[in-house]
Amino acid sequence: MKGIILAGGSGTRLYPATLVISKQLLPIYDKPMIYYPLSTLMLAGITDILVICTPADLHLFEKLLRDGSQFGIHISYASQSTPRGIADAFIVGRDFVGSDDVALILGDNIFFGHGLRELMVSAKKNGTGASIFAYRVSDPDRYGVVEFDNTGRARSIEEKPQFPKSHFAVAGLYFYDNRVLNIAADLEPSARGEIEITDVNMQYLKKQALHVQVMGRGFTWFDIGTHEAYIEACKFVQILEQRQGLRICCPEEIAFEMQLISPEMLLAAAEAASRSQYGLYLRDLYNIKTGVNK
Ligand code: DAU
Repeated sequence: MKGIILAGGSGTRLYPATLVISKQLLPIYDKPMIYYPLSTLMLAGITDILVICTPADLHLFEKLLRDGSQFGIHISYASQSTPRGIADAFIVGRDFVGSDDVALILGDNIFFGHGLRELMVSAKKNGTGASIFAYRVSDPDRYGVVEFDNTGRARSIEEKPQFPKSHFAVAGLYFYDNRVLNIAADLEPSARGEIEITDVNMQYLKKQALHVQVMGRGFTWFDIGTHEAYIEACKFVQILEQRQGLRICCPEEIAFEMQLISPEMLLAAAEAASRSQYGLYLRDLYNIKTGVNK
C-alpha cells in the first residue's frame, strides 16, 4: 500500500503565521507538523510515501524530509498548483499510486492513542473498498459528518453541514482500494469549488464499500485548522512528552522500533541533532537499546 500526505493548501485561516511558511512546517511543540502524519503512516507500516505540497514549498519539504532513507522509507514529492480539493491528491498522485491501494492523511492532522497501529493495520487489511474513521467532536459543522443508522452503519456523510446529523466528524486519514483513482478523476467540483473527499466517500458508501470505524474516547485527534487548535495540539504534545519522558511521533524512533533503520542510523540521527533535546532523546534511545554508552 502506498501513502500520501497532503500538505498543500493556502493556510489562510492561520494568516499571518502562514504567510511565508507552509502550515505543515510549523512546529507542533518540538517537531515540524508534518512529522506527525508521517509517523502515523509509518506506524501503519507504509514505507512508500508521496508528499504533496504547493510548488513554492516543495524545496522546503525536500530539505526537511529528503528521500526518507534516514527513516528507512522512501519519500517522493509532487506539487499541487492550486488547492483544488483534498480528492485532488489522487489526481496529482495517480502515477505514484499506480495499481496499488493507498492511504491518504492530511498534513495538518495529528492522531494519538493506544491501539492506533492495530486500528490502521485492520483498516489496511480490509481489502476492497474504503476505510475511514469517525471521531466525536463538539463542533461537527467544521468537518465531514457521518450519520449512523441504528445498527451502527454509516447512512450519510455531509461536508460541513449547517445542521449536522451527528457529532461524528470524519478524521483526515483514509484507506482506499485502487478504484479511488478513477472515482477522484470523475468528480465534479462542489459549490465551494473543490473536489471533495466527502464525495469520494459517498461514492464508496453508495457501492456499500465504505467501512467507518469509530475512534473512541481513548484517542486524540487534532485538525490544526485554527490558532486555538494549533496551540491545543502543542500543549497536548508538551504535556504528554514531559509527563512520560517519551516523544510522540518521532519518525526516527518509529523507524528504529519497526526495524527500518539500524542502531548505527539511529546514532547518526542523534548526532545530526546533537545539541538539541531531540538529539539527546535519540542518543538515550540508542544507549538503552544497544547497551552501549555513546
Ligand atoms: O480534518 C478532517 C476534515 O478535513 C474532514 O472532516 C473534512 O471532511 C475534509 O473536507 C477536511 O476539511 P478541512 O476544512 O479541514 O480541509 P482543509 O481545506 O483545511 O484541508 C485539509 C488539509 O489539506 C490542509 O492541511 C490543507 C490540505 N489541502 C487542502 C486542499 C483543499 C491541500 O493540500 N490541498 C487542497 O486542495
